[in-house]
Amino acid sequence: MTEIRIRVNGVAEALDVEPWVSLLDALRDRLGLTGPKKGCDQGACGACTVLADGVRINACLALAMQYADTEITTIEGIAKDGNTHPLQDAFVRHDGFQCGYCTSGQICSAVAMLREHAAGVPSAVTEPGGPGELDETEIRERMSGNLCRCGAYNGIVDAIKDVAG
Ligand code: FES
Repeated sequence: MTEIRIRVNGVAEALDVEPWVSLLDALRDRLGLTGPKKGCDQGACGACTVLADGVRINACLALAMQYADTEITTIEGIAKDGNTHPLQDAFVRHDGFQCGYCTSGQICSAVAMLREHAAGVPSAVTEPGGPGELDETEIRERMSGNLCRCGAYNGIVDAIKDVAG
């Protein structure tokens, strides 16, 4: 076992982890943060999405040890000072979920995606000349790593559009 220091949702944590422990398992089983969900456990569904220094990652594919000295944000850290994040409110307003299993990953991914778009990071469907308006095609592409088995995609897109303005 190796001790790593990691910041999770603004709190410094010291974790003893074996080299093979995924970040997802460390968050859920060692720190009790069950917001990130285990869907496929192989990088295909996005239910485990968290932010590592603001960048979205699939926590099931990440080894906890790789993220020493990194700021990890899970859905539990998205709300601030008791106030829900605008995306959380928008998901409620637009029914951006049904069973809710994918929602924490969807929202973490959407938080990062809006930042990426604002920073001019292109997606696979970005027109030459750089990201323009965050239209439905762009949103669907940028959110394509997050699956919803209930098929609440229209609500998810509407929620993101609402916040993107
Ligand atoms: Fe990580 Fe599905 S559980 S991508």
